[in-house]
Amino acid sequence: MRSYSLISPAKINLYLEIIGDRPDGYHELVMVLQSIGLSDRINLRSLSTDIIRVQCDHPQVPQDKSNLAYRAAELMAVKFPEAFAQYGGVEIAIEKQIPVGAGLAGGSSNAAAVIVGIDLLWHLGLTQSELQELAAKIGSDVPFCIAGGTALATGRGEELSPLPNLDRLYVVLGKYRNLAVYTPWAYQTYRQQYLSSYVRDADSLEARRERVHSGPMVRAIYNKDGAKIGQLLHNDLEKVVLPEYPQVLRLREAFISAGVLGTMMSGSGPTVFALCETEAQAQQVQQQVRQSILDPDLDLWVTGVTTNGIHVST
Ligand code: C5P
Repeated sequence: MRSYSLISPAKINLYLEIIGDRPDGYHELVMVLQSIGLSDRINLRSLSTDIIRVQCDHPQVPQDKSNLAYRAAELMAVKFPEAFAQYGGVEIAIEKQIPVGAGLAGGSSNAAAVIVGIDLLWHLGLTQSELQELAAKIGSDVPFCIAGGTALATGRGEELSPLPNLDRLYVVLGKYRNLAVYTPWAYQTYRQQYLSSYVRDADSLEARRERVHSGPMVRAIYNKDGAKIGQLLHNDLEKVVLPEYPQVLRLREAFISAGVLGTMMSGSGPTVFALCETEAQAQQVQQQVRQSILDPDLDLWVTGVTTNGIHVST
């Protein structure tokens, strides 16, 4: 086949704890990541010339090397030069549904789709762990996006342990259209405000790892206890993002007033998600929040958790 159409799902963070800073500038994390139904479509096509071309129907998505999808294709061309020479370049056409700069890993998921798609286009036959190893070179969340489902992520976020599937939870997402949080800013601010004491004292990373608080969330996932999962949602980055972005706090409060299982900012934000037990409840919450925050810039979506990672569209 000379073309593939792939589905590239977004993710939310049910849990994000920052354990410490690292010499490479990243942060040591413990996260619980969850794929959701909101997704982009990535159409990949082999070209007769040796160029990589990105197109997107969303005006804010760059079409150059700053696009993670472009970087993923470039990485594949460098790693597999013979296949690149044999099959030619690729056109990557992105149909965007996932909001941009939102904390939902839209760009990471698109890059994951390009890696999976080029593996198919070029008949490379890579294993899941080989795909994830390549994905980690593009970004911390990209390996998770390949596999999807529910997973515990450690290290930079690239070390994954699968968790049991959560089949019946519904998600309401809210994001202000013109609001975006720059992820490096969120982590740097957290580092300045909360990690300087770690640097000063001799507390080792190993000792800090032993004190992580993710255990109850992981147990709630094993028990498929939606109410408990809702209560245990956690994101350390809220400590720096909420004071700077009062709209995010307001949205969180509106979700709480609507009686959801739990609400939290996803990743570095500014998207806020809320968990609901049924789709009907999620739709009611969406309506209630729309009526309580009368702002035309607020976008709201209802979706569900999914067990899907990147997959070929049928
Ligand atoms: O890995 P990725 O390129 O997606 O990360 C984007 C930015 O988020 C990094 O440049 C870094 O500033 C921050 N980050 C971090 N620690 C992590 C993951 C991301 O500091 N574990």
